[in-house]
Amino acid sequence: MTVTIVGAQLGDEGKGGIVDLFGESADIVVRYQGGDNAGHTVVHDDTEYKLSLVPSGVVRGKTGVLGNGCVVNPRTLFDELDAVRDRGLEPDVRVARRAHVIFPYHRALDNIEEDAKSESNQKVGTTGRGIGPTYEDKAARRGIRIGDLTEPDVLRERLEYVVPQKRRVVEDVFGVSVDEAAFDVDALFEEYSGYGERLETEEMLVEGGEFLAARLDEGANVVFEGAQGTMIDIDHGNYPYVTSSNPTAGGAATGTGLGPAVVGDGHVVGIVKAYLSRVGSGPMPTELAGVVGDTPGYDGDGDAVEEELAEFIREEGGEYGTVTGRPRRVGWLDMPILRHAARASGFTGLAVNHIDTLAGLDELKVGHSYTLDGETRYSVPATTERWAQCEPNYRTFDGWPDVDWDEVAREGYDALPENARTYLAYLSDELDTPIYAVGVGPAREQSLVLEHPFE
Ligand code: GDP
Ligand code: IMO
Ligand code: MG
Repeated sequence: MTVTIVGAQLGDEGKGGIVDLFGESADIVVRYQGGDNAGHTVVHDDTEYKLSLVPSGVVRGKTGVLGNGCVVNPRTLFDELDAVRDRGLEPDVRVARRAHVIFPYHRALDNIEEDAKSESNQKVGTTGRGIGPTYEDKAARRGIRIGDLTEPDVLRERLEYVVPQKRRVVEDVFGVSVDEAAFDVDALFEEYSGYGERLETEEMLVEGGEFLAARLDEGANVVFEGAQGTMIDIDHGNYPYVTSSNPTAGGAATGTGLGPAVVGDGHVVGIVKAYLSRVGSGPMPTELAGVVGDTPGYDGDGDAVEEELAEFIREEGGEYGTVTGRPRRVGWLDMPILRHAARASGFTGLAVNHIDTLAGLDELKVGHSYTLDGETRYSVPATTERWAQCEPNYRTFDGWPDVDWDEVAREGYDALPENARTYLAYLSDELDTPIYAVGVGPAREQSLVLEHPFE
């Protein structure tokens, strides 16, 4: 049995917490795309774990797998494993030999290209982790895979081809000088073959698809943990303000080595934040005020009421990047995004987080549809430029009071304030998808479970 967790919006919907909740009954948690650009927060025994690469289930003793669709920075991987071990846990993490390796020159190139783009206002606002350049090398057939780290001749040959080429790109195309350490073939060979040895000695290397298929045959429960979200999917998101992989459910097949029927036979849960947040640039029709540097054209001089609302939501929801610490852009729930996400991934259920964060507002708005060229639209247009022209048509909902959320969590769905239930029912009806869980706080005990996909 499988459960696929997909971000329905722009990332940071609270996927880590839901993986933790449903993962209780799982044996294996698999990441199928992305790398250390993700930032998942999991609260366990009053300890907060911030993980960017290690799958969220690992803090509960589950086997974590980084599938072939991932890009893996071994430095981050071992740093996170060491940090988890320092807290007394014994993480069991496997890495697919087909996954690609992020090298220091990928990180350098990520930042160099962002700087170059910022001169013409085309900056994406990436996390700077080298994600795009690594997937670029994968597609261009010059990438280096995890399995290559244990083959010294192959590793050296690939580095000798690619590193001088990257150096020329930096110096001749971008006209900047390289950070020597990131472009030194011998030093990279030493360090990265060392990671290969460590991966081998610690028995972390797997043939991803075979490993997972065998465990599923034995009856294992598997969670496919998506990172990022639908609107930053390279195909279904707002290109070019996207990440370079497929967080949508199709990615769970290509990124693990299992067939689409394996994913489709299980549950596909869309994780929804009760409002909207965004890190980086790109359109956001329901945005409240803005964040200077990220919101296109925003100079910090916004509508005072919107500023106040944005500040409230940001503070109550802790909307500061898990990886980068920067303030996230926030806005009202956007239904066209959710309709697009539900179609692209085929959600069988929803988990809606942060109902507590919105408590105390007199009223809330929801972008029910858009107006574009005088016509009403219910889904997201394909081009980012057209999306930026969309004007939201809002529906207004009565707010709900701040209550004792721990008590609500203990008592169940009917204990939620009535107006919160009205809001949730609207969401579920519009998407024609049942709600499996509702988050009323960051801890696992602060989630209401209506339907447990593994039970
Ligand atoms: P992810 O990237 O989708 O895993 O989400 P993040 O961990 O980056 O961001 C979600 C943040 O919201 C984390 O700090 C969570 O602890 C927190 N969170 C998740 N669900 C809820 C909820 O229902 N209420 C509140 N107040 N916080 C939540
Ligand atoms: P989780 O898994 C929110 C955004 C970046 C940038 C764009 C491309 O925590 O939900 P990248 O470094 O991937 O090339 O950046 O995607 N981004 C995220 N935003 N949550 C994330 O992950 C993100 N991962 C990348 O801010 O706009
Ligand atoms: Mg996150």
